Amino acid sequence: MRKIVTIVGARPQFIKVAPVSRELRKVYREILVNTGQHYDYKMSGIFFEELNIPKPDYDLGVGSASHGKQTGEMLTKIEEVLLQEKPDAVLVYGDTNSTLAGALAASKLHIPLFHVEAGLRSFNKRMPEEINRILTDHVSEILFAPTETAIQNLKNEGITKNVFHVGDVMYDAFVYYSQMAAEQYELNDFGVEEKQYILATIHRAENTDDLNRLKAIFESLAKLNETVLLPLHPRTENKLKEAGIESVLQATNLKVIPPISYLEMVFLENHAKAIVTDSGGVQKEAYFAKVPCFTLRDQTEWVETVEVGWNRLVNPIEENLAQIVGAWQPTTYNEHLYGNGDASSQIVNHIHLFFDEERGR
Ligand code: UD1
Ligand code: UDP
Repeated sequence: MRKIVTIVGARPQFIKVAPVSRELRKVYREILVNTGQHYDYKMSGIFFEELNIPKPDYDLGVGSASHGKQTGEMLTKIEEVLLQEKPDAVLVYGDTNSTLAGALAASKLHIPLFHVEAGLRSFNKRMPEEINRILTDHVSEILFAPTETAIQNLKNEGITKNVFHVGDVMYDAFVYYSQMAAEQYELNDFGVEEKQYILATIHRAENTDDLNRLKAIFESLAKLNETVLLPLHPRTENKLKEAGIESVLQATNLKVIPPISYLEMVFLENHAKAIVTDSGGVQKEAYFAKVPCFTLRDQTEWVETVEVGWNRLVNPIEENLAQIVGAWQPTTYNEHLYGNGDASSQIVNHIHLFFDEERGR
């Protein structure tokens, strides 16, 4: 049986790996490596338990550090795993430092690299994620693109071989777990009422590491007319403390809670009046849940959500979020913008064909 090493490490990757791993393990031997980029129980362990993700074969325990130190330590440790396991391929997800470390380790050892969520671009190289994606895409052997835009982005960079439009594995996860979430929770559990609250998440470096922007974001949230439920990412909490402005969390309409599980998140997304976020995953989930989304960024990789009229980019310094949330109404809805919920099985089929062709060469 062919052996595939999968590398994950950050919250969104635990969610992405859940549906793919389920399919992959029907045909291949998967060795799961967790870099430990995220390590708090509510950023990591809770997802393994709730989503039934197999226990990692390797926990690298890298944790937090500067980009160079974190990525470097991952690279060293992943290389050791790959030398020991000698897999037929390495599978990475998205655009985190764990993705880049996995990509570099595999490509230097000439092990075929498969990238899930390939081709996304913000065209902003100040984002660490943009650098991680571009580099990973350029050393990948198979590129699984979630959208047509992603295919076009890759084409523009000269990448056309083994590029497959499979849809978004996050849609697979959302479809699979939404029903489970509905059976498990009630709005009462969270002290909110149907369509009477805004769900918010903030964590992106471009927002948290710029004090003016960070302040403007929390001032904007405080001015919203609804209750704002905010599961707080540890990065944001730490940055507010470092800047000595954690009192912004005490605004009367803000309900700040620790990070929540995926099922809780999906449940709250499905019942929110609106979503305010800078998360890549949450922008799409707002669309899946048919809830208007306000993205506190200057650009997005998920341009379709904006084009179709369900996502509005908002500059928290120059624009009035409360006014925009109050006035803005989404328009048409395209059910299959992110595929049919079968991206994971398509990915496994393409991997199968790749190995078949390789055998024939
Ligand atoms: C990372 C990804 C980002 C992704 C996000 C998902 C990179 C460069 N960034 O950003 O693309 O959107 O994950 O959530 O890979 N921390 C804790 N406990 C944890 C994890 C983090 O306290 O379990 C704190 C630490 O202070 C750490 C900071 O959060 O320094 C940032 O963590 P890090 O993994 O470096 O980046 P994220 O901002 O989480
Ligand atoms: N998420 C979660 N609990 C939270 C916040 C987010 O389960 O408290 C989920 C969210 O539903 C989505 C994923 O985490 O599936 C997105 O991860 P994140 O926002 O950390 O990263 P990004 O997608 O921006 O890389």
